[in-house]
Amino acid sequence: MQIVSSIAAMRRLAKKWQRAGTRISFVPTMGYLHAGHLSLVKRARQAVGKHGEVVVSIYVNPMQFGPKEDLAKYPRDLKRDLKLFREAGVDVVFTPSDDEMYPGNSGTGVRPVRSPKKLTGETPVPLQFSTCVVEEKLSRTMEGASRPTHFRGVTTVVAKLFNIVLPDVAVFGQKDFQQAAVIKRMVADLNFPVKIIVAPTLREPDGLAMSSRNKFLDAEQRAQAVILFHALRAAKAAVKTKVVPAQRLQADLKVFITAAPLARLDYVGFFDPETLELVKQVKSGTQMALAVFIGKTRLIDNEKL
Ligand code: PAJ
Repeated sequence: MQIVSSIAAMRRLAKKWQRAGTRISFVPTMGYLHAGHLSLVKRARQAVGKHGEVVVSIYVNPMQFGPKEDLAKYPRDLKRDLKLFREAGVDVVFTPSDDEMYPGNSGTGVRPVRSPKKLTGETPVPLQFSTCVVEEKLSRTMEGASRPTHFRGVTTVVAKLFNIVLPDVAVFGQKDFQQAAVIKRMVADLNFPVKIIVAPTLREPDGLAMSSRNKFLDAEQRAQAVILFHALRAAKAAVKTKVVPAQRLQADLKVFITAAPLARLDYVGFFDPETLELVKQVKSGTQMALAVFIGKTRLIDNEKL
């Protein structure tokens, strides 16, 4: 397994493979790996076979964190990540620095700044960086409504990574269902020659979706964090044989979730899985997404009901 940290070296490798007709499969991550990430690597290998190249990236992208979010304390453990990726059969790990990805922000890395409102809206952008990729429809609801600058950071960094890694295939997790939908839209709208695969959410035995942020939970919080999964299950049961008004189900779930004393609901929403538009009536097949604070840790989950 090769570890590459410069953009030039990564692109040289990718171009060499392209010239040889070798297929490239890519899994972008922010590291601090769990079995969910590794299941994407497995899917990536399946997609290109043993003669293809599987590239992963580990990069905690400052641009997708809001000014008050957990960028500084986002968990990191490069040594452990490299070991896990090696065991999973990854060919190349791309681990760029902030300076490499957003040059000109010397010293402590990228600092989010507020640009003049009339130019870019209330969006933090790195200093000396003035081109962003913005998806303008699917990214407005759910995570986008709650974290208004988040998807702009995701689409920008993923576009950059695609331009560096030159993948034929890229694998994303259903866990971040809206992220996958926004990336698919970006790829279609901007003609990236990349096939997007969305792989299922891996869960802990009790149903909690695996997430790097689960590490922040203490024992009591961890026990209550399963409320997100239970809420999905309760909603599924509620719409199994009938149609339920979204407002009513939302109110019922709020009560259900706050029965866990450490839980605070950020949002729960019901959406058309294709258009991501809010629906007023919830039925079997509607997509439900929710975000819940457990203590200070914000967790998300979603499923098709
Ligand atoms: P990160 O949160 O590290 O997730 C990397 C990939 O793993 C994403 O595609 C995510 O959906 C997937 N994933 C996370 N938890 C999962 C689970 N329990 N089961 C299956 N897949 C799971 O998502 C990001 O990083 C970033 O936004 C990124 C795309 C790398 C851009 O910076």
